[in-house]
Amino acid sequence: MEYVTNSPRETEDTGAALAERLEPGTVVAFTGDLGAGKTAFVRGLARGLGIRERVTSPTFTIVNEYEGGRLPLFHFDMYRLGSADELFDIGWEDYLARGGVCAVEWSENIESALDAGCIRVDIRRGEADNQRRISIAGEGFE
Ligand SMILES: Nc1ncnc2c1ncn2[C@@H]1O[C@H](COP(=O)(O)OP(=O)(O)O)[C@@H](O)[C@H]1O
Ligand SMILES: [Mg+2]
Repeated sequence: MEYVTNSPRETEDTGAALAERLEPGTVVAFTGDLGAGKTAFVRGLARGLGIRERVTSPTFTIVNEYEGGRLPLFHFDMYRLGSADELFDIGWEDYLARGGVCAVEWSENIESALDAGCIRVDIRRGEADNQRRISIAGEGFE
């Protein structure tokens, strides 16, 4: 599915709409440059799951956890992740088993750990400053 948004709010809304369709254990794997709008989209995922806490970038902590919604949300930023060992150290497998939604920024860095069932969200800049092109792919999202 392809979307064009023209503000951060519209990107959030796209995330909120996706959240309604997510099942326990789903991995949402993001690709796209710094400033593309990945965190904005995750903010929408949180809203759509009914999480009230404000989502901030987990860059320095690798993962932030949000409870209190329809499903827990685990928000990863893999930008600084160097190796598969580190993925093990942060407890990736345990997060997968917890029945939440794992939203992964910089999923490029954990490509080999992603399985075929994940949902791919790619965000690119459009022609105008505030325009973004968002592609959502995965089973059921043709
Ligand atoms: N259509 C849009 N969707 C999302 N963000 C946008 C859009 N237009 C402008 N922006 C700006 O782009 C930046 C996106 O930041 P962020 O979500 O943190 O990106 P990322 O997590 O991909 O690095 C914000 O400064 C936001 O205001
Ligand atoms: Mg981000």
